[in-house]
Amino acid sequence: MVPVATAAAMGCRMQNFSAANTSSEEQHLTSEEKAWAHWRKLKQPKLIVAPMYEGSELPFRMLCRKYGAEAAYTPMLHSRNFAQSEKYRSREFSTCKEDRPLFVQFCGNDPDILLEAAYRVESFCDYVDINLGCPQRIASRGNYGAFLMDDLPLVKSLVEKLATNLSVPVSCKIRLFPVLQDTINYVKMLEDAGCSLIAVHGRTRTERTRERANWDAIKSIKTAVKIPVLANGNVRHMDDVQNCLETTGAEGVLSAESLLDNPALFAGFRGGEWVVDGSDGFEDGKLDRGRLVVEYLKLCEKYPVRWGIIVAHVYGMLREWLAMHPDVRDDFNKEKNLSFEYLYRMVDQLRARGLRFPLYVKTRT
Ligand SMILES: Cc1cc2nc3c(=O)[nH]c(=O)nc-3n(C[C@H](O)[C@H](O)[C@H](O)COP(=O)(O)O)c2cc1C
Repeated sequence: MVPVATAAAMGCRMQNFSAANTSSEEQHLTSEEKAWAHWRKLKQPKLIVAPMYEGSELPFRMLCRKYGAEAAYTPMLHSRNFAQSEKYRSREFSTCKEDRPLFVQFCGNDPDILLEAAYRVESFCDYVDINLGCPQRIASRGNYGAFLMDDLPLVKSLVEKLATNLSVPVSCKIRLFPVLQDTINYVKMLEDAGCSLIAVHGRTRTERTRERANWDAIKSIKTAVKIPVLANGNVRHMDDVQNCLETTGAEGVLSAESLLDNPALFAGFRGGEWVVDGSDGFEDGKLDRGRLVVEYLKLCEKYPVRWGIIVAHVYGMLREWLAMHPDVRDDFNKEKNLSFEYLYRMVDQLRARGLRFPLYVKTRT
C-alpha cells in the first residue's frame, strides 16, 4: 500500500501531460489524439467503479477489480484539506500497485489549491478527476461539485490549471443542465480547456437516483466532443451495461449504488431481483454476498480503512440477509467493540441459519 503522503517525499512530481512529458512523436499530436492515446494505453476500460464517498476506498476497489471492474475512481477528496493536511491525506487516500487504472477525484474551487492537491497524487493515478457533479447541500455551502455549473469561467480555470501543469490527464465528472444545448456548450468548453475525458452522470443537479438517467443526452454529448466519454446512471447489471453502451456510444460505464449491493456485477453476477426464472438462462452462480463480505473483510485487513466504511459495506451487501434475521442485525447495531472476528462470525451465523441469497450468472442464452 502507498500512503500518498510519501508522494512528495519521493520526488515523484513529473512534467505536464500536454507537452513536456510526451515523447517526440506524441508532441505532434493534437490534444484529442493525446487523450485517445492515453485511453488506449490504459486498454480502454469499459467497466468502471464510480466515485463513492465512504464507498470506493481501496479495499472495495480491489474487490470490484477482482470481479471484473477494469478501472476505478477514488471517493471525492477535498482539495484544500488534501493540499494542507497530512493527516487528511493518510486517512482518506491509499492505493497499491494493483490499483490501476485509477481516477483520483477532487472537489475544489481554487485552481492553485486544486493543483497543489493534484501534484501529490499524479504519480499514483491515471487521471486527476474534478468533481463537477456533487449536488448535496454541503457542496452548495462549499461552492464545489455541481454548484460550479453556475460559474463556468471558474470551471474553465480549474481544468486549464490542471491540464497545463500535471503529468497525467484531467477528467471531469459532470451532471446535465436542464437544457441539452447548455450541456453541449459546457462539455465543449471542458474539452477546449484541456479535459481529456468526461464522465456524464445522466441526471440534472436536482434529479435523484430514483429518476431514470438520460442516456439520450449522454449520446448527444458523445457526438459533440472528440475525447472519450463515460456514461453513468442506471447501470444495475450487465444487460444495462450493454444497453447503455449501445444507446450512448460511450467508451465505458460507471456504476455506483448497484456495486455497493453487488460488487461482482461486472463479472456478470446479478441478484435474484433481476432474474425472472430458470427460463432466462440464469443459474445460481455459487457465489453469495456472504462470500463477498468475507473477501471484502480480508481486503480491509490488508488495506485498512475506517470502521464506519466497513460497516456501511457490510450492511450494503448483507441488507437482504439481515432483514430476514433482525436479531442478528440488532446485535450488529448494538455491538460496541466491532472486530473482524465479530464480522466473520456474523456471516457464519447467517449461513448456519440455512437461508441463501445467491447471485446468478447466465449459463445459456
Ligand atoms: C454512497 C455514494 C457516494 C457517492 N460519492 C460520490 C463522490 O464522492 N463523487 C462523485 O462524483 N459521485 C459520488 N456519488 C455519485 C455516483 O458516483 C454516481 O454518479 C451516482 O450514484 C449515479 O450512479 P448509479 O446510478 O450507478 O448509482 C456517490 C454515490 C453514492 C451512492
